[in-house]
Amino acid sequence: MNYLVAALFGYVLGSIPFGLVITHAAGLGDVRKIGSGNIGATNVLRTGNKKLAALTLLLDGLKGTAAVLIAGMFGPDFALAAGFFAFLGHLFPVWLGFKGGKGVATYIGVLAGLMWKVALVFAAVWIAVAVLFRYSSLAALVAAVVAPIALLLMGYQDYAVVFAVMTVIVIIKHRANISRLMAGTESRIGSKG
Ligand code: G3P
Repeated sequence: MNYLVAALFGYVLGSIPFGLVITHAAGLGDVRKIGSGNIGATNVLRTGNKKLAALTLLLDGLKGTAAVLIAGMFGPDFALAAGFFAFLGHLFPVWLGFKGGKGVATYIGVLAGLMWKVALVFAAVWIAVAVLFRYSSLAALVAAVVAPIALLLMGYQDYAVVFAVMTVIVIIKHRANISRLMAGTESRIGSKG
């Protein structure tokens, strides 16, 4: 394997828009036409179908983990490259005109494949913020800021740099959510708006 193959493999895997595929298959129409317009689990939840939302979360995460673990069989650097490009594939899928999701599930999936302890930190922070404030976007933003710091504190500088870049991209992708959070109009987890 070389880096180009690892990146391409990761990108193709990451670009599978599970939220869109699953909701279409279930006859719920185009998830991009409801709620925030995102293809992720939070917006799938706005269809009212919790099982499909959980499945979207699981598959969007697992594609990141799978990219890391499969490419990782050829060396740790390939794992990181495939994981990073799986994340980019989710955000910018060629099949959807490069308009993909916000990357949170795939972020944690990649993290789980590379450094599961930090994935647990991410999940714990996400759950804590979500329980306290009931905003999926806020939970994701706080967890994504904590993850590179946790990596750095645990001595994984290389991973910390890559995940810091991913966090910046996650923040940019959430700019509409951030505006809504600041305006007090962001929809809470479980609400259909
Ligand atoms: O993981 C995506 C979440 O942080 C925000 O989703 O649909 O509320 O924009 P949404």
